[in-house]
Amino acid sequence: MNFEIKPLHPVFAAEITGINLRTPPSRELVNTIDTAMDRYAVVVLRDQRLDDDQQLAFAQAMGPLEPSPAVVDQHLHRLKYREMVDISNLDVDGSVMAADDRRRMFNFGNLLWHSDSSFKATPAKYSMLHARVVPPTGGETEFADMRAAYDELSAEQQAQIEALVCDHSLIYSRALLGFDEFTPEEKQMFAPVPQRLVRRHAGSGRRSVYLSAHIGTIHGWRRPEAMVLIRELTEHATQRRFVYRHEWRVHDLVIWDNRCTMHRARPFDDRQYKRDMRRLTLEDSAPTLQQPQ
Ligand code: OGA
Ligand code: MN
Repeated sequence: MNFEIKPLHPVFAAEITGINLRTPPSRELVNTIDTAMDRYAVVVLRDQRLDDDQQLAFAQAMGPLEPSPAVVDQHLHRLKYREMVDISNLDVDGSVMAADDRRRMFNFGNLLWHSDSSFKATPAKYSMLHARVVPPTGGETEFADMRAAYDELSAEQQAQIEALVCDHSLIYSRALLGFDEFTPEEKQMFAPVPQRLVRRHAGSGRRSVYLSAHIGTIHGWRRPEAMVLIRELTEHATQRRFVYRHEWRVHDLVIWDNRCTMHRARPFDDRQYKRDMRRLTLEDSAPTLQQPQ
């Protein structure tokens, strides 16, 4: 295959051209993408005219999938596959969601800087998001490189955070937006999980700071002290020089590594326009506290 890798940003993110994912990828192609992911952490593949079956076949070839998305009102699933996360503003019948829909309120959480499934005991490895319908303006996705951010902390800051463990929960990220309408079952399902704050990225051997809007506290710290530090680190880590902004075209597939990047959606007129994106997610190898450091 005649592919080419073009960097999209000074520190990370690249586009690979010359790849067609409509047929399941060969071992060689999977290795090519994994190698690019280890270096760039965000890989853009344009013009991939995939349906749900093809997107699923590609994702399965990349590794083990997360079984089911953690969302509210799971019984209202619009898509064919349970594993496919519905990143859209659409109701089950394909119309734009009602303004006061609970799922719409919940989904606003995607506008906060986060790492996918950091609130699960075993978090996410890659997310693979495919654009089916995009709005005429807005709705970009921004990515920030947590390895570059770690490298630019001072030696004192690196030492201060080295051994810290944070609790992550969907309830914490939604609380930042004033959303607290969780049912007792959801509260149980979204109970906090511990994750290391500093990780070693398996693919590159580099250290990264594992931040996410889902963080609600640091073990052994008072919560306001913890949240002040997390906010400081998040502001540091999301400075423009660490950020790649993706402007979506229909049929873009973007793969990102949640172990060493954060991302957030940017707003668009979601009362007026449709945005239909579908995500499949690979599971990481183990809880971060059980991974080699
Ligand atoms: C996601 C996500 C951001 C966006 O798919 O996990 O956070 O721009 N998406 O839709
Ligand atoms: Mn996300």
